[in-house]
Amino acid sequence: RPRVLSGIQPTAGSFHLGNYLGAVRQWVALQETHDAFYMVVDLHAITLPQDPAELRSNTRLAAAQLLAAGLDPERCTLFVQSHVPEHAQLAWIMNCLTGFGEASRMTQFKDKSARQGADRASVGLFTYPILQVADILLYQANEVPVGEDQRQHIELTRDLAERFNGRFGQTFTIPAPYILKETAKIYDLQDPSIKMSKSASTPKGLINLLDEPRATAKKVKSAVTDTGTDIRYDAENKPGISNLLSIYSTLTGAGIEELEQRYDGKGYGALKTDLAEVMTDFVTPFRERTQQYLDDPETLDSILAKGAEKARAVAAETLSQAYEKVGFLPAK
Ligand code: TYM
Repeated sequence: RPRVLSGIQPTAGSFHLGNYLGAVRQWVALQETHDAFYMVVDLHAITLPQDPAELRSNTRLAAAQLLAAGLDPERCTLFVQSHVPEHAQLAWIMNCLTGFGEASRMTQFKDKSARQGADRASVGLFTYPILQVADILLYQANEVPVGEDQRQHIELTRDLAERFNGRFGQTFTIPAPYILKETAKIYDLQDPSIKMSKSASTPKGLINLLDEPRATAKKVKSAVTDTGTDIRYDAENKPGISNLLSIYSTLTGAGIEELEQRYDGKGYGALKTDLAEVMTDFVTPFRERTQQYLDDPETLDSILAKGAEKARAVAAETLSQAYEKVGFLPAK
């Protein structure tokens, strides 16, 4: 079985619709066909300041949401990044292989540090993508299911894997991004020129999966659409309606063309009303299942402990190969 690995940050609390459609949904599907490793990336979370108690509870909350979304601990390895110390260890080696200029070109770093004020951004935020490189290479992942915004980090991973292999001999699998075209980028409901995100979206433009379903339905109904009335997928000229069509299509399995036909001549209002209902039907059980996992922290923690043990076995093996290749003296 080919292997996949991916991760999600715990910091936002509730996952948003972009996280789910862009990434988590694919994770669920891939556990059937791949040897799958998925993690909550708490080491990445502290690249921005975090309240310790909140970080801890958000880490559990993220794991609960992943299970609620359909990850099955019998079918995949679900773990917390800080439970596997090899991530930080391999990241150090990768830091030493990365050029300063190369790291400076990472666009997510530029965005995030600009938001913080460049001088206040941590060095951890700067090396964030290199920790992600280590995450992926430790598991010899063939594919990495993510949204479009992570593509550059996967490119960096490929470059560094090739560099390491070239310098020290074949060690790491070269991973490929796994990005589905239809859901690579879910847009803000109020401003379809920007991606849906916790940091950039206004509350009305952001669908949090754990919000009150009624509030979510309302946001869908008041989504910004485009001038004109025809319901047609045209990302360039009709970004608002195209975004809604992508969301609708993915959540229901109906094809875009099928939806275009179904709503032909019916107007934006009808589409939004129906999508609001589709969304309600999706988030209502999702919220309930998340709460069930949260209500039983012992089971949740034991799932994560087993996941960490399985992950560690793989990660330790790769790290020891890398240590040997680099020339570290074995500890006897
Ligand atoms: P994070 O936590 O920001 O986001 C989790 C996943 O959600 C996707 N995503 C979106 N997809 C489509 N449309 C959107 N509007 C949207 N917003 C977010 C992201 O692309 C991501 O796949 N650096 C990563 C976490 C990470 C990781 C890894 C991923 C750490 N190590 C190793 C893969 C492999 C991040 O911050 O994701």
